[in-house]
Amino acid sequence: MPARIEAKIDLDRLRNNYSSLFLLSKRKRMIPMIKSNAYGHGALEVALTLKNEPQLEALGVATIEEAIALRKEKKLDTTRLLVFSDSCPWDENRAAIFRKYNLSVVLHRWSDFKSFIARNHHHSIDYHVQWNTGMNRLGIELENLAAFQRLLCSTRKRHQLPRGIFTHLAAAEAPEKRLSQHQLKKFQYLLSELKPRFPQALFHMANSAALWKSKEWKITSLTDAVRPGIALYGIPPEHKWPVKEVKPVMSLRSKCVQLHTLEKGEGLGYGFDYQAKKKQTIAILGCGYGDGVSRLLGNQSQVIYQRKRLSILGRVSMDLMAVESPVKKASSSFFDHCRFELFGDRLSIWEQALQAKTIPYEILTGLTSRIERTYVGK
Ligand SMILES: Cc1ncc(COP(=O)(O)O)c(C=O)c1O
Repeated sequence: MPARIEAKIDLDRLRNNYSSLFLLSKRKRMIPMIKSNAYGHGALEVALTLKNEPQLEALGVATIEEAIALRKEKKLDTTRLLVFSDSCPWDENRAAIFRKYNLSVVLHRWSDFKSFIARNHHHSIDYHVQWNTGMNRLGIELENLAAFQRLLCSTRKRHQLPRGIFTHLAAAEAPEKRLSQHQLKKFQYLLSELKPRFPQALFHMANSAALWKSKEWKITSLTDAVRPGIALYGIPPEHKWPVKEVKPVMSLRSKCVQLHTLEKGEGLGYGFDYQAKKKQTIAILGCGYGDGVSRLLGNQSQVIYQRKRLSILGRVSMDLMAVESPVKKASSSFFDHCRFELFGDRLSIWEQALQAKTIPYEILTGLTSRIERTYVGK
């Protein structure tokens, strides 16, 4: 039975996007970000698709629960899984979980780093260290640099040294900003202090936007690895940035569940927020905010049916929304087989995001489990 609302996810495109970003990075080690259910695309399917791609360093997740769910899949038992934002203080219990599931950890608090080393956990757990260069979200302050080196001074074995040293950029899309330049300078300082001491460590800072602006951020000369998220899924990090390199992996499509004819002056849906100016046919689609479609799209946005743009009429409700109908009458095959695109190749997710006063990241991660995800190109 065709789904009421379906996200079609093209895994060939995902692989192609990976290759393009790999080339754009000038063949750096890759840490694809697959947190938040791979930006709504399905973390397991995405992980299985990328696990054998060239130069894959690790898959990036936010939470330990996300990492454990992936590790339980047999086919991922040798893929490195890097947990970026574990929120618990570092202690023996935390270490036991990371060891049990063979996970890699990002240490972003100075107290955690000290505890990690004091307990000799660097002998058995793979780790990256995050530094705060100005975003002021996560990361160890640079004033701890000398103490950091002292704590590791007796460590000689390669596997006990940090596998990665990195920072995160607050405005990667705008390297020209004064605060971005400040971040860049601090990263360069980190590099000059730590690279000679830890030549084995992978230095990284680039998300998707920084990859687009590689030259300004000096990605090729300063870093060894990159961490693309949104671009991997085929979406430019900023509205209207030119994208030849990547293509959208997901298209979201809904089917029509009923047609109605409105007479002039008749209202539609909750609050009668739409009233017909003349006699017209409307199509009720089987999707709503319970699936993650924003209420702000009501009376604002459009969907695509066979290359034709159709306006969304009235309020978006939990399970349903109305659009102009492309037909006056419909057969059962129309209800069974016809699909209305909410976003994808013909209607960019950025367009919808701007109308919903948000960004594609929020739309994608807000898609609920009611949406059937179907995969092509496996
Ligand atoms: C630490 C870190 N690196 C990389 C990314 C990927 O960012 P983007 O999706 O903008 O490429 C994120 C996403 O939020 C992140 O938190």
